[in-house]
Amino acid sequence: MINRSDLENFWTRGDIHTRIHKAMSEAGLNNKKLEIEDLFPIDQYHARGIAATVDLGKRMPISENQRIIDIGCGLGGPARYFAKQFKCLITGIDITPSFIEIGNKFNNLTSMSKKVSLQIGNSETLNFEDEAFDGGYSQHVTMNIKNRKDFFLEAYRVLKKGTFFAFSEHGLGPKGNPIFPLPWADTSEMSFLLSPESTISLLKEIGFYDIQIIETSEKYISGYEKMIDNKSKKDKPILGIHVIGGATMKERSINSMKSIKEKRTLPFEIVCKK
Ligand SMILES: C[S@@+](CC[C@H](N)C(=O)[O-])C[C@H]1O[C@@H](n2cnc3c(N)ncnc32)[C@H](O)[C@@H]1O
Repeated sequence: MINRSDLENFWTRGDIHTRIHKAMSEAGLNNKKLEIEDLFPIDQYHARGIAATVDLGKRMPISENQRIIDIGCGLGGPARYFAKQFKCLITGIDITPSFIEIGNKFNNLTSMSKKVSLQIGNSETLNFEDEAFDGGYSQHVTMNIKNRKDFFLEAYRVLKKGTFFAFSEHGLGPKGNPIFPLPWADTSEMSFLLSPESTISLLKEIGFYDIQIIETSEKYISGYEKMIDNKSKKDKPILGIHVIGGATMKERSINSMKSIKEKRTLPFEIVCKK
């Protein structure tokens, strides 16, 4: 099993604080008040960036002032976007301490601290009362969760009855054997993919109902193609997912794209009810 410091290093790829400071400085974003949109190129730590977050948001029934949980919030980019879009309050938890530290700094810089609060936490044991939230979501986290049943049980526990849970992930495709390293795992030691069918039956077993699934392979393939093309250009953007994902981000993204094309993996979004 991977230990805590290897896990932190997997996600941060060395000195993430300095990389972000340098990139923001080159992009002219340091020492000024920011809009949440300024950070989209680096704070949406998943394939397809803000476009994937916007898509998931369109499927989430969130009302003003509701309390929503983000499980595996990363740097809090999706949380800031949803908090602004829906005028709701978001609590994010993530296992990577540096992401939480940077995410809360980003909340301050974008004047979102009253709407979004991020804390260190593990999806296996959520540090909240039963039925504390009016909805919840998790973007591209479940691929790393070995005990998927406990993950969904905890999500279920902290949601009020009648509310929603939404998530997106790379599921296991019919051919299996994804190509490593991938954006979420350098080796199979960190990757725990389930087929969409197994995920749906697990959700049903736990008590979730009205399970709506959308397969997103084509969108992800074209998203990866666009990103890989951008990175090959001479004048590649200063801000981008590479600032967070480090030097191997391009190789890992190519492997993820190939894995989808070869049906080894199968990305999807699910929205269901408790
Ligand atoms: C691909 S990133 C996605 C981050 C964020 N959801 C986003 O879309 O920008 C996956 C995140 O899951 C977090 N994570 C992995 N295992 C976790 C666990 N057991 N509990 C909480 N967070 C976890 C990682 O630290 C990382 O921030």
